[in-house]
Amino acid sequence: MVDVILGLQWGDEGKGKIVDYFAPHYDIVARFQGGPNAGHTLYIEGKKMVLHQIPSGIFHQNKVNIIGNGVVLDPVTLKRECEAVAAYGIDVRKNLFISDKTNIIVPTHRALDKASELSKGESKIGSTLKGIGPAYMDKTGRNALRVGDLLDKSFTTQYIKLRLKHQKLLDNFHFIEDISAWEEEFFEAIEFLKTLTIINCEYYINNAIKAGKKVLAEGAQGSMLDIDFGTFPFVTSSNTISAGVCTGLGVSPKQINEVMGVTKAYCTRVGGGPFPTELLDATGEELRKLGSEFGATTGRPRRCGWMDLVALHYTCMINGVTQVIMTKADVLDSFATLEICTDYEINGKQSREIPFQLSKLKVEPVYKKFKGWNQDTSNIKNAEGLPADMLMYIDYINQYIGVPVKYVSNGPGREQIIHI
Ligand code: GDP
Ligand code: IMO
Ligand code: MG
Repeated sequence: MVDVILGLQWGDEGKGKIVDYFAPHYDIVARFQGGPNAGHTLYIEGKKMVLHQIPSGIFHQNKVNIIGNGVVLDPVTLKRECEAVAAYGIDVRKNLFISDKTNIIVPTHRALDKASELSKGESKIGSTLKGIGPAYMDKTGRNALRVGDLLDKSFTTQYIKLRLKHQKLLDNFHFIEDISAWEEEFFEAIEFLKTLTIINCEYYINNAIKAGKKVLAEGAQGSMLDIDFGTFPFVTSSNTISAGVCTGLGVSPKQINEVMGVTKAYCTRVGGGPFPTELLDATGEELRKLGSEFGATTGRPRRCGWMDLVALHYTCMINGVTQVIMTKADVLDSFATLEICTDYEINGKQSREIPFQLSKLKVEPVYKKFKGWNQDTSNIKNAEGLPADMLMYIDYINQYIGVPVKYVSNGPGREQIIHI
């Protein structure tokens, strides 16, 4: 049986905290897509830890954590992260397994990411520049190096072949960068990677499921950044939605049980692309300040805006979400009035559907106003303690999306979560 935790917005919904919270109920925690573009924040013993490659169940020593075949892996980031985790007494050689089919990010992928973004000028995606797009291009282009290849004598020859191909592309972009330092780090990290446990993930997971073990699949990015269903072309390069769990881990759709969708109580987006409810005024600034909305991977300020139910309804639909977890409700504590977008007005017509090419249309969000709860909720421990105005806000969301909000997170800490 596989349960899924994934993001319903444009990423950074608080998935890391939620996975860490639920991990004790599972035997295996597995990342199924994305790469070091992800930044999942956890608080361990009161200290902040941001994970980019390792699943967010790693701090539970007796759980197996898997990096699945759907992930693109930067060995340098992984090595650094394993060292950071080891400082907490975690032995990654015991509880971190990597699929032999995971694709490897090489230094020229990062250079290509930079070159491609530069060539786009004003219309750049706002990529994290971690090499994600080029790495997935090599996967679908059937050129990639995979973790299982490390065990092959011809790995270096294969690497050089790929680098030469990339060099031609970089020449086309007229992009020059000395990657020798990256390469040195890369080969050091490759040696480290060889010392970790490399598995055939699909057999491992399916055998575990057969033996009655419970698997938690951890999504990265968010559904509005999905390569097929997001705000294309301002998206990432993987399927971030629940269907990605099957191809990213090698499990059948029949094994998927709960799909837990994580949403903030408002919206944020980092990078370029359409964002209908974005607030470019003092309210947006207030959300950024109160929510500390700065990217966990790049430090960039996140764009902020009101909750968008047209988008949330859509992402619940394409994921088959069975329960919603609402994070950062506490960030709204001091607002006198809150707004929720219920419809998009496009060319004078109202609609509750996401149109094709949102990026090319002028969308006027239609809002419903709510009274704020105006009280500090960060110390509340149970549903009975939640303000009536917050419950009304949540109830409206439940009715609109047709899926219940089952948990409210009221602070970044491990214990700040309420079952409702
Ligand atoms: P992820 O990528 O989905 O794991 O989310 P990030 O870690 O990038 O961003 C979420 C940020 O919000 C992190 O700084 C978390 O510590 C923080 N956070 C998570 N849940 C809550 C919450 O309920 N309230 C507040 N105030 N912060 C939260
Ligand atoms: P987590 O897992 C928020 C955004 C980038 C950019 C676009 C493409 O922490 O929620 P890419 O590097 O994939 O080529 O960037 O996607 N992006 C994220 N935004 N959270 C993330 O991950 C993201 N990963 C990528 O900002 O707009
Ligand atoms: Mg993040």
